[in-house]
Amino acid sequence: KIIVIDFGGQYNQLVARRVRECNVYCEIYSYKTSIEKIKEMNPKGIILTGGPNSCYEEGAATCSKELFELGVPVLGLCYGAQLMMHVLGGHVCKAPVREYGKIEVTVDQSSALFGDVSEKTICWMSHNDYIEEKAPGFKIIAHTPDCPVAAAECAEKNLYAIQFHPEVLHTVEGTKMLSNFVYKVCGCAGDWKMDHFVEHTVKALREKVGDGKVLCALSGGVDSSVAAVMLAKAVGDQLTCVFVDHGLLRKNEGDEVEEVFGPNGPYKLNFIRVNAQDRFYAKLKGVEEPEHKRKIIGEEFIRVFEEEAKKIGKVDFLVQGTIYPDVVESGLGGESAVIKSHHNVGGLPDYVDFKEIIEPLRDLFKDEVRKAGLELGIPEKLVYRQPFPGPGLGIRIIGEVTAEKVKMVQEADAIYREEIAKAGLDRGIGQYFAALTNMRSVGVMGDERTYDYAVALRAVNTIDFMTAEAAEIPWDVLGIVSSRIVNEVPHINRVLYDCTGKPPATIEFE
Ligand code: XMP
Repeated sequence: KIIVIDFGGQYNQLVARRVRECNVYCEIYSYKTSIEKIKEMNPKGIILTGGPNSCYEEGAATCSKELFELGVPVLGLCYGAQLMMHVLGGHVCKAPVREYGKIEVTVDQSSALFGDVSEKTICWMSHNDYIEEKAPGFKIIAHTPDCPVAAAECAEKNLYAIQFHPEVLHTVEGTKMLSNFVYKVCGCAGDWKMDHFVEHTVKALREKVGDGKVLCALSGGVDSSVAAVMLAKAVGDQLTCVFVDHGLLRKNEGDEVEEVFGPNGPYKLNFIRVNAQDRFYAKLKGVEEPEHKRKIIGEEFIRVFEEEAKKIGKVDFLVQGTIYPDVVESGLGGESAVIKSHHNVGGLPDYVDFKEIIEPLRDLFKDEVRKAGLELGIPEKLVYRQPFPGPGLGIRIIGEVTAEKVKMVQEADAIYREEIAKAGLDRGIGQYFAALTNMRSVGVMGDERTYDYAVALRAVNTIDFMTAEAAEIPWDVLGIVSSRIVNEVPHINRVLYDCTGKPPATIEFE
């Protein structure tokens, strides 16, 4: 296996996931892990991630020199690269020119890392510091006009340092570079697959649950559906699925979920639907701050489950479909900083009536969850469903949530989705939805002045939901959508299209 050592960068799980894409097993450990423990794990290779610190500063995350003397190949990325140089006697300092974004890098194709990579290749850079001088024994194998050491190697010792981020898809040939490292440098075989994950997880869940009772939070989305089916496979009718309709679902979605998972659907689950709309609206009344809204929705969810659990009797485990991007953005992903507290992760109250929470998908990215879903035999239609956040429309209504606003955004979103599907674009776009802005503006309809809300349309292309680009929807499709929304949805008189990528924006609005 490969070990990824986490120094707190935003892309750490991406590194792990790219390694898994090479069909190589991979685990992430904190930089605080002792050298003895690392030795015990006997890894085939070690990858040091990026991180927010400056390695030359007092108290910065660091590693021991011994790590580079284990005879195990090491690849340092960004901060990891700087740290490797710093620890081994090179010089790292603040860069005279900060590099951020897609930058053309010239690479040395004689390096094992870059053998089949183009000599000039676009890479994703994001750094304030740079390697001013490589460590002794190293050779420079890539540079840019502003970055003399964009990569360096000490081939005899299998040590490699890369200033840019090969794990991010903006680095066009990044996957090649990482696969060169795991196959050519580390000699990994590449025989690990998703069916191993599914098999292993189902077996582990069966052992963990024993003859206990399990309660699953089913939202009908891809993540919780995959988690539910996984549990159903593991423990059958020891599983009860509770579907809370919080009144923040898309149009007709509650009934659709019931059709699939209810008593008439293909799965033999114990299924309970709770209609809790009014309860959620009451709690959200007057609340505008996004984090506060997320916390309220998350907490209310748990309360509803607690109540259901009490009705069912003794329940030992609660299953949630948390996936990795939820974990990292909530600030629970090892060393990274908080971006948003995701529902199902951040909003947990102090006392819970369950023995333990089970999150079988916690280490996976969305597309990996889909692969696992297919592996489990879940129909494609469900597996390729649009992702939908746990707090639902609650975070697609900027500012206060009311029943009227929910209705507006539901209708606008349904029109948008219908027209996207009609235009044959639905499978090609990563995620698309309508959000209700908190902005009202003046319009004219018929001969009347209007003063109504603006809807924002969002569509992004993304593979892993950690980075995304705005999708280019044909103008004529946008035209149809906007005229239908304004005509058919009362109190909306303006439609805006969001062109921002992630970063700097996030996919959702709150
Ligand atoms: P952001 O807005 O953080 O969204 O760029 C990334 C992806 O995560 C989804 N998302 C959530 N999923 N609970 C979830 O299960 C949440 O609280 C949540 N917030 C965002 C979002 O729809 C996108 O696919």
